[in-house]
Amino acid sequence: MPLVEIANLSLSFAGLRALSNVSFAVETGEIIGLIGPNGAGKSTLLNCISRIYMPDHGTIRFQDRDLNSRTASEVAAEGIRRTFQNLELFREATVRENVALGLIYRYRTSLLAELFALPSARDNQRGALKEADQIVAEMGLSEWANVLVAELPYGSQKLVELARAMAGHPKLLLLDEPAAGMNREESRRVAETVRRLRDHKGITVLLIEHDMRVVMTVCDRIVVLDHGEKIAEGTPAEIRRSPAVVKAYLGDA
Ligand SMILES: Nc1ncnc2c1ncn2[C@@H]1O[C@H](COP(=O)(O)OP(=O)(O)OP(=O)(O)O)[C@@H](O)[C@H]1O
Ligand SMILES: [Mg+2]
Repeated sequence: MPLVEIANLSLSFAGLRALSNVSFAVETGEIIGLIGPNGAGKSTLLNCISRIYMPDHGTIRFQDRDLNSRTASEVAAEGIRRTFQNLELFREATVRENVALGLIYRYRTSLLAELFALPSARDNQRGALKEADQIVAEMGLSEWANVLVAELPYGSQKLVELARAMAGHPKLLLLDEPAAGMNREESRRVAETVRRLRDHKGITVLLIEHDMRVVMTVCDRIVVLDHGEKIAEGTPAEIRRSPAVVKAYLGDA
């Protein structure tokens, strides 16, 4: 049984088909790439899985249960965590505070208030920050633990978001362009990190990325979207040779 099963997913925005009858499955422990030109529907698909968007048609099953009736926070609590194409961090909070917020469904739900306000909840707060520090260290961010996110370079902020997602002990990690805006060395590190999370923690990853070096080195399988439709699916080697994929990227020119 696949961990995720997407069947006939469609979603339109004011008549524009962002997703059109998309189906594919993700096996447990797989790193699956989701690629395609700008506007292909990649982020929209991720937003459907994490319940930010409600599809018009089709189903998404996670661990053989239908996600359509679930809320975004229920889905997060079940172990689906994500990062955003345009970072959604608390810029005026520190790195460790941002990562601690990722623990929210594992500590009491009032953690958010506790972290920033109530002195009476100090034990819980300490526990969360200690666990956050551990994740910050695992992600190689210790030297910035007490730095405000706003003061970090963009590439490091992307890693903070990944660390926050990891704080949720995810079964499924949804990454929307984790290497965007990074130089070659930084994106190589992101690829290594994604691979390590899968190899050592068994996390299943759905990865949107334009950096083909990252996609081709890290993904077991790739799904290609173009204008909301799935135009190809296969191993990196198969995708590289696919005429439909070459055409989608280069156009008819
Ligand atoms: N909330 C929204 N309202 C209206 N249109 C939207 C919305 N979200 C996405 N779209 C449209 O749906 C289409 C697919 O967008 P999406 O963001 O999923 O593309 P993408 O593959 O992630 O592209 P990129 O590589 O540029 O991030 C685009 O035409 C986009 O303008
Ligand atoms: Mg996108």
